[in-house]
Amino acid sequence: MPYISVILILLIALAVTAGLLIFFVVKLYLDREDLRTSSDVILARVLGRFPLPVFAVNKKHHVIQWNKALEVLSGISKEEVMGTNNQWKAFYGKERPVLADLIADGASEEEISARYQGSARKSALIRGAYEAEDFFPLLGEDGKWYHFTASPLTSRGKVIGAIEILEDVTERHIAEQNLRYYARQITRVQEEERKYIARELHDTTVQTLVALIYQMDNFRSGKPVLTEEETAKLNAIYQRMKTAVEEVRRFSRQLRPPVLDDLGLLPVLEWLKGELKKMYEMEVEITVTGEHKRLQPDTELALFRIIQEALINAAKHAKVSSAAVLIKYLEHHIDVSVIDRGVGFDLAGKIDLLPRDGKLGLAGIVERVQMLGGKVDIDSVRGRGTTINVEVAL
Ligand SMILES: Nc1ncnc2c1ncn2[C@@H]1O[C@H](COP(=O)(O)OP(=O)(O)OP(=O)(O)O)[C@@H](O)[C@H]1O
Ligand SMILES: [Mg+2]
Repeated sequence: MPYISVILILLIALAVTAGLLIFFVVKLYLDREDLRTSSDVILARVLGRFPLPVFAVNKKHHVIQWNKALEVLSGISKEEVMGTNNQWKAFYGKERPVLADLIADGASEEEISARYQGSARKSALIRGAYEAEDFFPLLGEDGKWYHFTASPLTSRGKVIGAIEILEDVTERHIAEQNLRYYARQITRVQEEERKYIARELHDTTVQTLVALIYQMDNFRSGKPVLTEEETAKLNAIYQRMKTAVEEVRRFSRQLRPPVLDDLGLLPVLEWLKGELKKMYEMEVEITVTGEHKRLQPDTELALFRIIQEALINAAKHAKVSSAAVLIKYLEHHIDVSVIDRGVGFDLAGKIDLLPRDGKLGLAGIVERVQMLGGKVDIDSVRGRGTTINVEVAL
């Protein structure tokens, strides 16, 4: 009998312990669920009041957050889109992954870059996040430019989804476009002015001076009766007039070398080589590969100005006595490099800031390449030199 009561007491104790255990496990689970639910609700509330469009997707690409600002931007309500994978409808005319989908999938840098034509890059602030800038023709009245960042959502080190935030940068893009248009107009007008002044100098000033020299020649050949002193003065004036003609001719050629329009890029580079030798005592080695041909006048002019600026920079800043120009005529494009092994400089993306200090050369090179729809790479290392490479389609 006492055994039975001991066993009974033990059984009851066991049952109570098991009951308590189950109670605590269930409570813990419910608490965590509560916590989870409440944190989702808090997040949704915070995002709801956030002024920029934001949404989030889970690993299955289902929308789990969609805020008010995005409802307004896309015209798609939260009710409509939550739990679906229709996030693309806010931005594109046909189905495709958005940046958050790529991040949720752990896509590689190449894949992400390919999707956004090279405009996407790793976020400097958040690990695993990417940012990109793109034009969305379907948004707004005439389309909109957005800068967007997608960051991974993680749990215990695993990616469980991604959150994407968008910022309207249309006004900045329009301002940049206007500035670029303005810069292009200035470049174009400057070239027209140079051409006009060069032609005027050649056609009027030089002709007047040449006529005077001719008259002076006639006068001298008439053997006028002059004192020795008068003859010496006359000869000095005659020589100065000849020098003046040469100077004006040279100035006119420098403004706009006629050989560029008449004969093209390679002959004008030979002329430039001679000028740089005279002006800066700098040797220029020109190497040409491929089958050379005449290019569009705008392309020849722009390439000449780019090479001229790069060589004058080498002469002025690089502290070198020689520089090289390498021109490759390829099937569909021309590749031009100007190389010096001089002091080099720190560029660190500062080209846009140079014009405010009155330094227009490198910014002008970039501008001209953009006008031609080409690519430019300015590579400079302190103590090692500078290479400017330009690639333009033919
Ligand atoms: N080949 C080079 N070697 C060393 N430094 C250079 C070279 N090219 C440019 N730089 C540096 O970069 C700066 C900007 O060059 P940029 O051509 O824009 O202006 P600039 O030559 O000073 O003036 P501008 O071209 O308007 O007459 C230069 O002032 C110089 O410090
Ligand atoms: Mg310069």
